[in-house]
Amino acid sequence: MRVLLDGLKAIAEPTRLRLLALLARAELTVTEITQVLKQSQPRVSRHLKLMVDAGLLKRFPEGTWVFYRLAEDGDAAALGKAVTALMERDDPVLAEDAARLDAIREARVTAAASYFAENASRWDEIRKLYLPEEAIEQAMAEMVGEARIGTLIDLGTGTGRMLEVLGPRADRAIGIDASHEMLSIARANLERSGLANTQVRYGNILRLDPGALGLVPKADTVVLHHVLHFFEHPVEVVMQAARLLNENGRMLIADFAPHALERLRAEHAHRRLGFADREVQAWADAVGLTVGAVRELPPAEAGDDRLTVKIWLLEKPKGAVRRAGEAA
Ligand SMILES: C[S@@+](CC[C@H](N)C(=O)[O-])C[C@H]1O[C@@H](n2cnc3c(N)ncnc32)[C@H](O)[C@@H]1O
Repeated sequence: MRVLLDGLKAIAEPTRLRLLALLARAELTVTEITQVLKQSQPRVSRHLKLMVDAGLLKRFPEGTWVFYRLAEDGDAAALGKAVTALMERDDPVLAEDAARLDAIREARVTAAASYFAENASRWDEIRKLYLPEEAIEQAMAEMVGEARIGTLIDLGTGTGRMLEVLGPRADRAIGIDASHEMLSIARANLERSGLANTQVRYGNILRLDPGALGLVPKADTVVLHHVLHFFEHPVEVVMQAARLLNENGRMLIADFAPHALERLRAEHAHRRLGFADREVQAWADAVGLTVGAVRELPPAEAGDDRLTVKIWLLEKPKGAVRRAGEAA
């Protein structure tokens, strides 16, 4: 009764009903919401606070920005979803809000596209050094196999590609990245793909706060795709990733085999020049996982200036508990 009454009170106001309809369609910043509702920021903020307090909305800080979205868990969240479903899409006020939201989304896509265009040539330069990305994505999907992907967390999600590839098979997929620009591209890509259970969040993967990021319940699958070579001490990221896994969780790591392309450090901010199996084994030992399947994907054309991609699947040990340092 209490939750229902508080929830109904928090919804029963025209602007708040509009907010519910709006945030059911997209996650938005306060500035964007004020543009849609055409109301002052303090007023909008007051409404938002009330709805967050009632458990109808969730607030996600992203650096200096704050995003709002419909809450996903809890009784008030169920109420919010039920009321949203009752709203008429062709109501003239809601239809106007939806049209202004589309304009904002379009502006976001344009901004993301221009950042992408500025950087695409740099990224392409590296991609040319190894097997086409599609082959790696296919190998990753094969390694995940038929097993349930469940809740997927993609650390260092970048443009959200892994979310697009594995997200359709996941119950829920969340990407984390520390670059606003990358997240903008990811949001645009995910909206275009229409992946409803997929979201991205701003966060430093060296200092994850699962509660604050809405990363609970714990993950069934964590992905680190072309991320670890940016870190001086990748084991620190692997440790953070392992904390997110549930008791049957798996970690899929795709990165380069050891190589000698020193220029990638200077030109592309790589800190580590690939990883040997024994180093990955040491990470697994450090976090109590075993190294399961390993795939090696050599470049299409051999050469000293080419890169081999490797994929390692780290799993919870089955049966006997291994001692640290023992081979899998
Ligand atoms: C080469 S991109 C890979 C993106 C994606 N995993 C993919 O394969 O398409 C590396 C990503 O890691 C992100 N990143 C680097 N350091 C990070 C950190 N400390 N926390 C979160 N993301 C980080 C970068 O912003 C970038 O988007």
